[in-house]
Amino acid sequence: MQEKMPILEMKNISKSFPGVKALSGVNLRAFSGEVMALLGENGAGKSTLMKILSGVYKRDEGIIRIEGREVEINGIKDAQNLGISIIHQELSLLPNLTIYENLFLGNEILGGFKLNKREMIKKSEELLKSFDFTVSPKTLTKELTVGEMQMVEIIKAVSKDAKIIIMDEPTTALTEVETEKLFKIIERLKNNNVAIIYISHRMDEIFKICDKITVLRDGTFIGEEDVKGITKDKLISMMVGRKLEEQFPRIDTKIGKSILKVENLSMKDKIKDVSFELFEGEILGVAGLMGSGRTEVAKLIFGEYKKSSGNVYIEGKKADINSPKDGIREGIAYLSEDRKKEGLILKLSVLENMTLSNLKKYESKVKRINRAKELEDCKAYTKKLLIKTSSPNQLIKNLSGGNQQKVIIAKWLLTSPKVFIIDEPTRGIDVGAKKEIYQILNELKAQGKGIIMISSDMEEILGVSDRILVMHEGRITGEIQRDKASQEKIMKYAVGIAD
Ligand SMILES: Nc1ncnc2c1ncn2[C@@H]1O[C@H](COP(=O)(O)OP(=O)(O)OP(=O)(O)O)[C@@H](O)[C@H]1O
Ligand SMILES: [Mg+2]
Repeated sequence: MQEKMPILEMKNISKSFPGVKALSGVNLRAFSGEVMALLGENGAGKSTLMKILSGVYKRDEGIIRIEGREVEINGIKDAQNLGISIIHQELSLLPNLTIYENLFLGNEILGGFKLNKREMIKKSEELLKSFDFTVSPKTLTKELTVGEMQMVEIIKAVSKDAKIIIMDEPTTALTEVETEKLFKIIERLKNNNVAIIYISHRMDEIFKICDKITVLRDGTFIGEEDVKGITKDKLISMMVGRKLEEQFPRIDTKIGKSILKVENLSMKDKIKDVSFELFEGEILGVAGLMGSGRTEVAKLIFGEYKKSSGNVYIEGKKADINSPKDGIREGIAYLSEDRKKEGLILKLSVLENMTLSNLKKYESKVKRINRAKELEDCKAYTKKLLIKTSSPNQLIKNLSGGNQQKVIIAKWLLTSPKVFIIDEPTRGIDVGAKKEIYQILNELKAQGKGIIMISSDMEEILGVSDRILVMHEGRITGEIQRDKASQEKIMKYAVGIAD
C-alpha cells in the first residue's frame, strides 16, 4: 500500500540561540486524521521546533512543506493563515481579561467601529458549552484554576478551524476529568481529519491516543515509528539514548521516630477528620482522584490554608502553624503541584532562582553571602537533576519548560526541611530525570527525613512509597503497606468503596 501523503513535512530544521544549538537537522511529519507524538527529554528541542512551525521563532535552516507545497512562515499570522494552531506549554492567556476576551483576542468581532461584545459573549457561551465547560465567559481568567485556564487555551486553539493543531504538554495542568475531555476532543478532531502534533512526557497517553511517534534527542532527529509495534522500553531508549534499568530505584531504610502527626484535621466542608502519622526515613504516598483533598491536606499542614479544627505535631510537639512562614520555621517544605504559577523570577538566572529564597543558608555572621557555596550547590543540583542549562548564569526564561520545573524542585531541596511534602513531583519531567528525582527522595529518606508524596501516577505511587494513604472526598479511606499494595486496592479506596 502506498503511504499516505503527510500534510506537514519539516525537513532538516536547524536553530541556534546564543550559546545553544537547540535543533540540528530535524525532521517531522504529520498526517491528517492522525496524532503524531513528539517525544524527547527536557530540553531536547520539542517546543523550539513547534515555535518554528507556529511562527514564534524563525528557523536558521531547513524547509517546511504543507500539502506538498513549500511555505514560508515568518510570523504567527503566517502560521495561522496556513491553518496551524498551537496550545503553548506555558500559559499564554492574559489573566486580567475575561474568558471571552481571551478567546477572541486578535480575532475580535466588530460592530461598526466598536467591539461587538454581546456577540462575542454569546459565541463564547456556545463554544464553552459545546465543550461541556460550564463557566461564564465573563469570568476573569485569573480567577480560574490552572487546569481551567488550560481548557480555555485548548478551546481557543481548537475553535480556529485549524488543519494542524500542536499541543505542547496540554495535560500537565489538567485533572483526570479534564484530560478525558481533551481526549474526546482529540477523537473529534481526528474524525474531522485534523492533524495533531502531541507533546507529552506521560507514556500512557502516548500509547492511548497517538498513532505515530517522532523522537528528538539533544536537538537531533532520532526516528519516526508507528505506535503499533513499539514497546515502552524501545521508546525510552530512543529518548534517553540508553536503557533505563529499574525506573523505581528503591532503598530500604530503618523507620525512625514520629516526625509529623496530624490529628483530626478538618477544613470547612472540604477536609474531614484527617489523622495520620509520618515517620523518619519514610516515604508516605498519598493517592486519590483529583479533587479528593490531597493538596488541601498538604496546604493545611504547611499553613497555606486555615484549618477549622485539628492539631499538627512535629516530633511530638504541638505546632502552631498559621502561615507558610510558620510551616517553614517548623521544618516543613511544600513543593506545590502548581509549578506553572509558582514564582520563578523570569528575569533572574538559574542560580539566583535556586538560591534566592534560601539566602539565610548562605549568609555568614556578618551578613555576607557565601557566593562560592551558592555556586557549588547550584552546580551540584544542576548535575543531580540533569538540568540542561548553558551555565548557572543563564536566564531562567531561556530554559525549557521541564528544566524550569527542575530548578524549582532544586530550590526546595536546598531548604533542607525535616518534612518534605511534594505534590505531583514528576509532572512535565522526562523519564530519565524522574529516576533522578526518586533517587534524591531516597537520599532524603536515608538522612531520616519524612516525605509525603502526593501523586496521580499510579506506577509512581506503587514504585516509590513505603506506605500509601488513599483519600476520597476529603477523608482518608484507606491505608496500605507497601507489600500489600496494588492498583486495584488503591482504586477501590479512591472511589470510596471500603473493604
Ligand atoms: N529563547 C531561548 N534562548 C536561549 N536558549 C533557548 C531558548 N529557547 C530554548 N532554548 C534552549 O533550547 C533547548 C531546547 O529547548 P526546548 O524548550 O525546545 O526543549 P523541550 O524539548 O521543549 O523541553 P521540555 O520537555 O522541558 O519542555 C534548551 O537547551 C533550551 O535551554
Ligand atoms: Mg517544551
